[in-house]
Amino acid sequence: VRTPRRLLVTGGAGFIGANFVLHWCDRYPDDRMVVLDALTYAGNRNNLASLAEKENFRFVEGNICDRALVDRLLQEENIDTVAHFAAESHVDRSILGPGAFVETNVVGTFTLLEAFRQHWKNTSLASGLFLHVSTDEVYGTLGPDDPAFTETTPYAPNSPYSASKAGSDHLARAYYHTYGMPTIITNCSNNYGPYQFPEKLIPLMCINALIGKNLPVYGDGQNIRDWLFVLDHCLALDTVIHNGKPGETYNIGGNNEVKNIDLVHILCDLMDELAPNLPVRPCKDLITFVKDRPGHDRRYAINSTKLQTELGWKPSVTVEEGMRKTVQWYLNNEDWWKPLLSEEYQAYYSKIYS
Ligand code: NAD
Ligand code: DAU
Repeated sequence: VRTPRRLLVTGGAGFIGANFVLHWCDRYPDDRMVVLDALTYAGNRNNLASLAEKENFRFVEGNICDRALVDRLLQEENIDTVAHFAAESHVDRSILGPGAFVETNVVGTFTLLEAFRQHWKNTSLASGLFLHVSTDEVYGTLGPDDPAFTETTPYAPNSPYSASKAGSDHLARAYYHTYGMPTIITNCSNNYGPYQFPEKLIPLMCINALIGKNLPVYGDGQNIRDWLFVLDHCLALDTVIHNGKPGETYNIGGNNEVKNIDLVHILCDLMDELAPNLPVRPCKDLITFVKDRPGHDRRYAINSTKLQTELGWKPSVTVEEGMRKTVQWYLNNEDWWKPLLSEEYQAYYSKIYS
């Protein structure tokens, strides 16, 4: 019999966090779910609107760097499981302004770890867990013939974003080794799906196609990413929370390596098929090669054999199904993405794509 858990989910109003919270509340309605989110430009309260009336759900607007707040939540909610998603997550923004990445990703993670260490000591939690959600970008970049990243690939982060995530991973690891605190780290490849902020490649291409704007492909478009549908990431985290071993790292990936330019063509074909009123058709006429991202990693590929063989997870959505669902979601949810194309977003956009 499963004992109900009491979770604190940081960053639960963001893309993956919201998908995770919705999944968890649906699957485990008796669990207590507390979301802590600062509602930065990437956080959106509407993502969790369907949970507003739910008794076991609480949303707290606040910063993970606020130690007093984190201490209070851990204690008053008697939390046993922290699922830590909150982060500054966009590589291009980390190039423009790395400070916020060090603050949230490194100092914020440190604050949570310290608070949980104290709480864990005070309460002698039998089944406590601190799940640190991280990225494959900490491993750096691969050449065309290199084997995919495994859990023992040395860290070699190349952007301020990935360097800040690497720092936070090292802290989470150290808290297990030094204090025996039950931490688990997951390193996942590129996610896509509903609720992803428009700055990221897939929503950006869908939204730009819908409003007749250029589809900007960095460099020669030959960079490779390994794509995973967000629900499969959430299911992997569910598996790790229930069956993962403290002190371990698990890689998560979909085994779906695609070149950026090929992906943009797939999206254009789906748009042509699914969107009746495209301003420009065929959509691929909008593709424009633009200046490359500085330090742009060439290839990511994740080996998730450990998670598959030790814990029995495997991806359930094919890239074809997932891309179709995702394009359809952006087509159906203009009310969600339109308000996000704010002045702040336009200012960011002109800096990156000028
Ligand atoms: P996101 O940018 O969509 O959401 C981040 C959330 O964190 C937002 O709701 C934001 O308001 C919140 N947040 C930011 N700073 C905060 C702070 N100081 N205090 C409290 N809340 C704060 O990010 P995402 O894409 O959902 O990524 C979630 C996590 O997963 C991140 O840790 C990221 O590194 C990791 N990850 C992302 C991907 C991906 O493809 N998107 C892949 C692997 C791992
Ligand atoms: O690998 C996991 C990581 O995936 C996560 O840790 C990050 O939080 C997440 O943002 C994502 O990082 P990427 O930099 O890979 O994602 P992004 O969507 O920004 O870009 C995907 C690829 O597309 C990358 O090679 C850059 C390219 N790109 C991106 C944008 C926004 C373009 O060619 N044009 C664009 O306009």
